[in-house]
Amino acid sequence: MDSKRHELGGRELFQAQSHLYKHIFSYISSMYLKCAVELGIPDILHDHGGQHITLPELVSALKYNPPKLVAYAAYCACWFREDGHGHGHITTPFESAHGLNFLDYGEQNPEFNTLFGQAMASDSQMANLVVKDCKPIFDGLNSLVDVGGTGSFSRILSKEFPHMKCTVFNLLHVAANSPDTTNNLNFIGGNMFQYIPSADAFLFKLVFHAYGDEDCVKILKKCREAISSKSDNQGEGKAIIIDIVIDEKEYEQELTEAKLFFDMLMMVVESERERNEKEWEKIFLEFGFSHYKITPLFGLRSLIEVSPYTEILNCYAS
Ligand SMILES: C[S@@+](CC[C@H](N)C(=O)[O-])C[C@H]1O[C@@H](n2cnc3c(N)ncnc32)[C@H](O)[C@@H]1O
Repeated sequence: MDSKRHELGGRELFQAQSHLYKHIFSYISSMYLKCAVELGIPDILHDHGGQHITLPELVSALKYNPPKLVAYAAYCACWFREDGHGHGHITTPFESAHGLNFLDYGEQNPEFNTLFGQAMASDSQMANLVVKDCKPIFDGLNSLVDVGGTGSFSRILSKEFPHMKCTVFNLLHVAANSPDTTNNLNFIGGNMFQYIPSADAFLFKLVFHAYGDEDCVKILKKCREAISSKSDNQGEGKAIIIDIVIDEKEYEQELTEAKLFFDMLMMVVESERERNEKEWEKIFLEFGFSHYKITPLFGLRSLIEVSPYTEILNCYAS
């Protein structure tokens, strides 16, 4: 298996990963079709005379009682998102099923927490395939905080860039399970909405897709505070975001489909969504910054560089 892995290039392996994800999550299509039928959505559309229907109009036409509605409407709402902001803040189907939100559920169920951590770590192992192509992004950085990291990605980075001090920052109960530290790799527990340790750069892998725009801006502001507290680093700071960018290229239909399944998954688990480039840009603009660069490096995921922080600092200088 290992020798086969080396025969294949990163591109093929990321394609294979997208293919697998698509099949793993393809049950979502039939689930939301079932939900739509059970909710009577085809009849509602028919009764509406085939006219455009808004999400509130659709919801008020549904005949189900609220608890059932919450779970079903969340599944179906994505069909009717008019501007990519249709999810709203509702109890998530995950919460209806488990009585706790995703993070609290993880905190109270160590077995699940470990399993989720392992899944994330194995996903991050794929970074091994491309980290050499990313050299210019990390070269010259003295320190990096992997915000919401589980250690796997940072371990790869710390080996590839031995002069860069890597700090994995995650919630206390996650950091408590952290593997061994090394010379240039350590783990800190905390809440990114309250504090982010100081560094030259901040990595966010699969973090922002679980949050609404307002929260993403709050997190970026915490990065700004972390960089500004070290005046000698001003101008060097940047955010490196690894997440899905939905771009719907016709020739990448399978990739887009897999990305849209993740979009559904985020809605069920967090009431959030995957973003297209315009939606990412909106966050950066809200943060007062228009310069960003998107590189589709990781199969389903892209790497978005937002830099330099000096410009951001100037915007918030008052
Ligand atoms: C989808 S996982 C991504 C993990 C890792 N970055 C990766 O890609 O392998 C999101 C992570 O963010 C962490 N997280 C969520 N809220 C956080 C907070 N307020 N402060 C720090 N970490 C947080 C979670 O514990 C979880 O490990």
